[in-house]
Amino acid sequence: MIRFDDVTKTYMRGQHPAVENLDIEFARGEFVFLVGASGSGKSTLMRMVLKEVTPTRGTVYVAGRDLSRIPSWKVPALRRDIGMVFQDFRLLPSKTAYQNIEFALAVIGTPRKVVRRLVPEILEMVGLEDKGKRLPHELSGGEQQRVAIARAYVNRPSILLADEPTGNLDPATAEGILDLLSEINERGTTVVMATHDRSAVDRMSRRVVEMVGGHVVRDEEQGTYETQAPVSVISGHLPDDSALREEGLPEDVEALAAGEVAPENEERADGATASSPAAEEPAASDVLEEDLIDDREAARDLEEYPFDEFDDDIAQDEEAGR
Ligand SMILES: Nc1ncnc2c1ncn2[C@@H]1O[C@H](COP(=O)(O)OP(=O)(O)O)[C@@H](O)[C@H]1O
Ligand SMILES: [Mg+2]
Repeated sequence: MIRFDDVTKTYMRGQHPAVENLDIEFARGEFVFLVGASGSGKSTLMRMVLKEVTPTRGTVYVAGRDLSRIPSWKVPALRRDIGMVFQDFRLLPSKTAYQNIEFALAVIGTPRKVVRRLVPEILEMVGLEDKGKRLPHELSGGEQQRVAIARAYVNRPSILLADEPTGNLDPATAEGILDLLSEINERGTTVVMATHDRSAVDRMSRRVVEMVGGHVVRDEEQGTYETQAPVSVISGHLPDDSALREEGLPEDVEALAAGEVAPENEERADGATASSPAAEEPAASDVLEEDLIDDREAARDLEEYPFDEFDDDIAQDEEAGR
């Protein structure tokens, strides 16, 4: 479903890579926890799946597609089949729960009739059938995250990426969110979740991939949060200490790991923030609505293998010499 083939991402020349020589595969239908200190490369890995971040070297495959061969105007179609959930929910503050989900469907050209059926359905699935009219600030953190998950899942994506989705929630609420992600996984969606939530990882006993300094140092089929065995690098080479020190990893890594400091939304050296949408890609509104509806219908027809549409497009592009 997702495969990294010797992938390195270096944001700025001279800087230590955020992800280095990454070789890993996530199978269709899998539930994978990504653990590791802040700055270890978890978000970078996920953003490469969305084609929000382009690898410096190596190839990322999603459903057999080499992402570097998907033209930028096709990226919205790729993202329609990948849901994403964040620590800070990222709901539109002036729209109700219902409207947040409705909006996500509208921008991808979903016919109004379908929207009116899907939104109540998904609100019910996440247990918010009676809270559709509430604005985000009128909902608890856990409820806001449920809306965000509903929005990410309403289109039944093949993949759901969750970047520290329980990082802002108390343990009991976090448990509910995890159960919801687990249910989504049971319905067939591949779930990749970055987390510092020790109890979640231990309770679920799923695959655990641990990253340190851009490298996978552990990959266990039914893992726990804490390393059981001595750490050994299984993808790439563990950077030496000096490289880490030069890069200036935050001193409060412990606090970050414990969720006491929000690592997101920091000003990046490149001037962007962690939450800013990728500037390289066109906005969804740049794409003709008719195309989107066609794409969507085509995707529905291809339920088992929604990415097939790319094959045809890429083949056509190649024929046309684009
Ligand atoms: N947009 C960016 N520009 C420059 N450096 C970045 C950017 N995003 C992440 N990094 C750096 O890449 C490394 C990995 O970051 P990230 O993938 O966010 O890790 P994690 O999600 O595990 O905290 C860190 O050193 C971080 O500072
Ligand atoms: Mg992160």
